[in-house]
Amino acid sequence: MLKICVIGLGYVGLPICLKLAKSFNIIGYDINSERIDTLNRGIDLNDEFKKKDIQIKRLIFSKKIEDIKQCNFFIVCVPTPITYLKKPDLKYIDKSFNLLSKILKKGDIIVLESTVYPGVTKTFTKKLEKKTKLVNNYDFSTCYSPERINPGDKNRNLNNINKILAYEGKNVKVKRLIINVYKKISKKLIFSKNIKEAETAKGIENIQRDLNIALFNEILMICDKLKLNFNEVVRLASTKWNFINFSPGLVGGHCLPVDPYYLTYIAKKQGYRSKVTLSGREVNNFMKKYIINLVNRAIKTSRIKKNKVKICIVGLTYKYGVADTRNSQKIEILRYFKKRYKNTIGFDPFFKRSNKLKNYELKKYNFFLFLSKGSKFKKIAGLLDKKKIIDPFFYYSN
Ligand SMILES: NC(=O)c1ccc[n+]([C@@H]2O[C@H](COP(=O)([O-])OP(=O)(O)OC[C@H]3O[C@@H](n4cnc5c(N)ncnc54)[C@H](O)[C@@H]3O)[C@@H](O)[C@H]2O)c1
Repeated sequence: MLKICVIGLGYVGLPICLKLAKSFNIIGYDINSERIDTLNRGIDLNDEFKKKDIQIKRLIFSKKIEDIKQCNFFIVCVPTPITYLKKPDLKYIDKSFNLLSKILKKGDIIVLESTVYPGVTKTFTKKLEKKTKLVNNYDFSTCYSPERINPGDKNRNLNNINKILAYEGKNVKVKRLIINVYKKISKKLIFSKNIKEAETAKGIENIQRDLNIALFNEILMICDKLKLNFNEVVRLASTKWNFINFSPGLVGGHCLPVDPYYLTYIAKKQGYRSKVTLSGREVNNFMKKYIINLVNRAIKTSRIKKNKVKICIVGLTYKYGVADTRNSQKIEILRYFKKRYKNTIGFDPFFKRSNKLKNYELKKYNFFLFLSKGSKFKKIAGLLDKKKIIDPFFYYSN
């Protein structure tokens, strides 16, 4: 009988658990006690799901290895961040495969969903073979299925996002089983016989987006230097049939600021030093400094005395509509101004630790710095005296 375990219950793992629990018995496993305790009480600290979504009959949350020993289908969704030297940090994958080495049995299937560089699935599978003396694609099976979930996106969800599924084995029964499980997650599966190619595909999807945003950030900064209207420049260029429009902004989260370093790391190891990929990172990482300079310039021009400067920073999470603040440059900008001006607050209804901002307080601040694009913030911008608005990405003004 099929017994599925999802390892790692974050932004990726929890939605997969909830989706599969509609068809199978599932155990959601996580090493974070707080995550397990809150999920058992029907609380999602990531603010993505409600109690009624989480408390499902077929779903159990646990941090105990004994509870997952009987499982035979493991989906690994643990984090893959970078170290402070911007190198891939695979310790969570290492830990979860170490756990698997203690419980792996003949016939088990493992699907890795975390974003990795080409070769990681194979490396950890080899380690697993060594530890368990079981043989991949014979005694057990390993697959790779990169995740494309887009938290906060109401239109694209697990159900309608195409999902890549890579399996190199030849066992038809195993393949059918994997497809049967994954069909319950996504309506459209794209099959690959090469795990390294699927790992690379995931990397380049995010690299492409990071680079495209970087290009628009650079165009924005050039327009600023040349005193040109960025929106108008883009409007004109957009009239050409093959011009692709992107929105500039502060890139954050667990994927875009991280994934380019994964592919370039392995490329460098193989003797290729990336020329384009990391240039996007350079521009996007610089944007924090650009915004800080822009605000400092506005404060200087206003001639408001330092002790009278009151700043409200609107939009703190890495993108509008999510509670995730990982790698959020907006939080770093808030910290910078809080240190310099005691009357600085950050406002974001999606961020639990945010200050409140009542309508009557809108008069209190002399600068409103808008860092995210979304309807709730547009409403605030609409209520303000235009002179108070600092809108570096022209989300609400021209
Ligand atoms: N967040 C996204 O939008 C997104 C989108 C696509 C792909 N991804 C990729 O998916 C992976 C997971 O990302 P996430 O955002 O869900 O991370 P997350 O930090 O939200 O969640 C990861 C969970 O794994 C748990 N964990 C860590 N080590 C563990 C272990 N050894 N055993 C069991 N649980 C463990 C953590 O406690 C945490 O709850 C990453 O590789 C990420 O790049 C994320």
